[in-house]
Amino acid sequence: MARPRLVAGNWKMHGSRASNLALLDALLKGIGDAATVECVVCPPFPYLPQVGERLRGTRVALGAQNVSEHAQGAHTGEVSAAMLLEMGCRYAIVGHSERRQLYGEGDERVAAKFAAVTAAGMTPILCVGETLEEREAGRTEAVVARQLGAVDFKEGVLAYEPVWAIGTGRNATPEQAQAVHAFLRKRIDSQVQILYGGSVKPQNAAALFAMPDVDGGLIGGASLVAADFIAILQAAGSKKVTT
Ligand code: PGA
Repeated sequence: MARPRLVAGNWKMHGSRASNLALLDALLKGIGDAATVECVVCPPFPYLPQVGERLRGTRVALGAQNVSEHAQGAHTGEVSAAMLLEMGCRYAIVGHSERRQLYGEGDERVAAKFAAVTAAGMTPILCVGETLEEREAGRTEAVVARQLGAVDFKEGVLAYEPVWAIGTGRNATPEQAQAVHAFLRKRIDSQVQILYGGSVKPQNAAALFAMPDVDGGLIGGASLVAADFIAILQAAGSKKVTT
């Protein structure tokens, strides 16, 4: 069975009520209903209702960038999976390298977040990826295997995001991405979508998505520019379906 392609936009800590609407208007106009690719946007928490409202009835799904591993209680500043679901989220990113590196999220916490998202009936997008130092030390496979292995991955989306490629303008080559995706593929169900993330741009998207085990992308900076995000969606849409 073919794996559907998926492109997710991670807006990170960007946006305002006005800029969100402008971006969504341009995006929805640009993609029309022709494209067949699954599309998700992940705005900052406060904008979930606004963005969800605008996306209602469209083929673009709503996702969150983070989630608490706890169901409820005295966790100041946290947001539960049930709350995200109630706001219309279908996806939640867990284990993004910025959460791991800047906010000290370890494998155990990421695994608990993954479980919380699944339990709420949403789809987790689990991010894994090595630092430059780890790559240069030949530890890429060991690192991503550890990060994936920490999670009870039954269903969900996996995103390979080499840390050295995120926000740097230096993407992994299609061959580098494919090598890690193929490695990850052996460790999970063959129908799981594996996205590549890290400096995906309109210029490099088609070559990355042409790789047999790259099923789409997790897009940061370029998801904030409607024309770029649309071009990336189109590149994903024109990929030959792999079986
Ligand atoms: P980038 O971010 O596309 O800006 O490199 C990707 C990500 O962090 O998911």
